[in-house]
Amino acid sequence: MCGIYGYVGKNDAYQEVLKGLSRLQYRGYDSSGIAYFNDGFKIKKAIGTLDNLPQSVNCTPNIAFGHTRWATNGEVNIDNTHPHISYNKEFVLVHNGIIKNADIIKEDLIKKGISFYSHTDTEVIVNLLACLSGKIENRLEKLYKLLDGSFSLIIGYKSGDIYIMKKFSPLNILKADDGIYISSDVSSLKDGFLYSLNDNDLIMITKNDVIALANTKIDFKMHVNKIKEFSLGRFKNYMLKEIFETPKGIEKTYNYLQKQNVRKIFKHFNEFTLIGCGTAYHSCLIGEEYLIKIPKYKVKCCLASNYRVLKKIKRNHLHIIVSQSGETADCIKVAEQIKNFNGKILLITNEETSTMAQIADYKIITRAGKELAVASTKTYCAQVFVFIYISQLLLNKKFTINIKKFINDLEEYINKINVKSLVNKLKEKDKLILIGKDIDYALLLEASLKIREIDYIYTIPMYSGELKHGTLSLIDKDSVIISLNTSSDKSKLDVVKNEIKSRGGEVIAIDEMVDLSIISERFRPIFAIIPFQLMSYYIALKKGFNPDMPRNLAKSVTVE
Ligand code: BG6
Repeated sequence: MCGIYGYVGKNDAYQEVLKGLSRLQYRGYDSSGIAYFNDGFKIKKAIGTLDNLPQSVNCTPNIAFGHTRWATNGEVNIDNTHPHISYNKEFVLVHNGIIKNADIIKEDLIKKGISFYSHTDTEVIVNLLACLSGKIENRLEKLYKLLDGSFSLIIGYKSGDIYIMKKFSPLNILKADDGIYISSDVSSLKDGFLYSLNDNDLIMITKNDVIALANTKIDFKMHVNKIKEFSLGRFKNYMLKEIFETPKGIEKTYNYLQKQNVRKIFKHFNEFTLIGCGTAYHSCLIGEEYLIKIPKYKVKCCLASNYRVLKKIKRNHLHIIVSQSGETADCIKVAEQIKNFNGKILLITNEETSTMAQIADYKIITRAGKELAVASTKTYCAQVFVFIYISQLLLNKKFTINIKKFINDLEEYINKINVKSLVNKLKEKDKLILIGKDIDYALLLEASLKIREIDYIYTIPMYSGELKHGTLSLIDKDSVIISLNTSSDKSKLDVVKNEIKSRGGEVIAIDEMVDLSIISERFRPIFAIIPFQLMSYYIALKKGFNPDMPRNLAKSVTVE
């Protein structure tokens, strides 16, 4: 839902927090704000992306914390933007998570005469805290018990001291040579000594010290993380850059896989549940298509938000969770349930130091490189490659590929794709039906999501055989249907194409716009998705949308 970040130390804390929040914007960019201590906490807020915030303040504070927001309750406006301040100006705080009993608490506070300027659960937290009595530590412990839901909090007291605590939502503290850093996302923290808070922990940070309160045991561990600053290079947007980085990402993932003992992970398992959200779930569907062909294995796919973990997990059952960020709350919740019932988890992720990477029993890291655009492209292809690798290994005991030729073919193929004519035809469409069979249907689920999430066009991905059972009624002379057939049987969709054409609809066969014959069927999903990624990117540009930061979305949704 949001990113929260704090700094206490000798550097300019406002600048440190701006930098930190820029690494967290992928978690939400509806609005942002920073609280900095300068004879009391001062607050700067802005709607939209971080560059709308003042890029400097007229002092050099040593204490600051901030927030990038993805709205869950309360519309996108300045009043609802974090940080939030208590009615008596005693506390300021930022929050990632959702408080389920916020409305009840708010009613009670209003009865006590407290007025609210926002519609957020976060303002309820800060006013509840201000109404509690006793020593600050006790007030915070009471607050923890009164809140039902998920939260990670950075709380500033009027003295300038900072308190941090969390329940379900991740929160980390890092001790570095130039100060103390706090973040909701481990991957945004540089080298230092890291402690990932547990539920019930309470930590106080003063100008000079980190103090464990309420029986918290802080166990700092060495954290090495090369924070890379990113640049667009020759590209206009990260999404296009990342599509063109796909071949390199797959090559690095292959080289990584070759150094792992992947077969050993699967030694004691013959039943798999593949779990993910969004694009990651779609790569699970491709994975299922490959793994299900191996007789000795039982495989099923499930959306993380809809998965009910069985209390009795069979010892031969492996949960394979796919999450490029490793921070998606729906997946973390499932992972924690699986661990509670002694289940085993293989995580396929692009973020080696993510929250989920600390929970999983086994990890396979896609080496696609940091993905900044909200819409997953290169990480999806890397995830599909990992599934192809795993299934080949489990079927034939080894994985054969001429990786240099594969990468070269993929690079040439991507450079040759021209979707410009298609873009002009589709950019005015408000709905699109996409049809395909077998593995192509799973690919079209991902293609549809790309067009929905960055072009805001309603898409209906369908099994081609299903069209005549109802949805054909939508076809008229203005209809444009997109079809995909990656199989070598070129006549596979002829019947349904004729059904559409006989009703005046136009069919655009994406597989006829590119040459998939250059690659074996085994790898075609990686090639076939790219025209859709490019098409959705160029349609977004034509429509004046930001393909990297689509409205209402976040790169990783860290609330359920
Ligand atoms: C969504 C993103 O919020 O989360 C998608 O917009 C992504 O692009 C999905 O596929 C799952 O994210 P992750 O990090 O778990 O793969």
